[in-house]
Amino acid sequence: MHAQDDAPTPPAAAPAAAVPLSSHDAPFDFGGAVFDLSRPDDHQLVRFMLSQALYGEATGVYCGRSLYAAGSLEAARFYLRQARQELNHLELFADIFRALDMQPMKAHWAVRLLAAHNDYYPLKVMMEHAIGEGMVLDIFRDVLLQTLPDSDPRIPGIKKKLRVVCKEEEEHVAWGERETRRLLAERPGLALPFYGLIELQLAVAPAAARALAGRADDHPVLRQLPAFLAHVDARVRRQAVALGIAPAARPGPARRALAMAAGVLLYLRSQLSRSRSQLEHIYLRELGFPG
Ligand SMILES: [Fe+2]
Ligand SMILES: [Fe+2]
Repeated sequence: MHAQDDAPTPPAAAPAAAVPLSSHDAPFDFGGAVFDLSRPDDHQLVRFMLSQALYGEATGVYCGRSLYAAGSLEAARFYLRQARQELNHLELFADIFRALDMQPMKAHWAVRLLAAHNDYYPLKVMMEHAIGEGMVLDIFRDVLLQTLPDSDPRIPGIKKKLRVVCKEEEEHVAWGERETRRLLAERPGLALPFYGLIELQLAVAPAAARALAGRADDHPVLRQLPAFLAHVDARVRRQAVALGIAPAARPGPARRALAMAAGVLLYLRSQLSRSRSQLEHIYLRELGFPG
């Protein structure tokens, strides 16, 4: 199994515009609850959240492997642009740490697991770009933009930068969704293992949030975490249905177990995958030259 086996088709065959991110139309509403950065506990909680974001942005360099395996000029251009944006995001979050006079901490194991690299292009596109970056957007847009307190004079400037990041993350998700649709149209058999992997991703995702919730149960933001997690879970499931990965009605336990087993198998096989470059084989066609 190699990345080049699933090389994207020429740009002429792809739709002209990115798929709108309809699954993100309705953000979670924290009802005005915010952190209070003058409180040591809240300072630590925000530090924890921002540390996960900083780690996630560092893993943005993984899209360099997508550039290497890009099967069209359009894909190569996208990943080049994304790599530049992710590096900017990384430095931007570092600026936020400095502005708030915070030191980053190590990323939570669940975040490191969810952000793990995969060299099998279809899995990478679905898990990292479509689903993973979608969850990143949930955190940035729904949590950080709402719960960082505007009363702190440092925050409005930080949020201005975060809004730029969110807009770019929306583009990354839209690309991931579009590529996932294209790959599924080529290989419909991927839908079952993809669905199983999404079930597993959704099972792991709350672990990082539980690390937060255990710290302050009576907190105005943190006590809404269970509702926020349910919101993300439902949103990702809608996204999976819209992408043609999951059936409209959630299957029973037996079918879910089968899908998860197929997902684990595909994941294990993907570990043997080696990314290989494409462009040197297809550049003439991609550039519009005959032959
Ligand atoms: Fe990013
Ligand atoms: Fe991104």
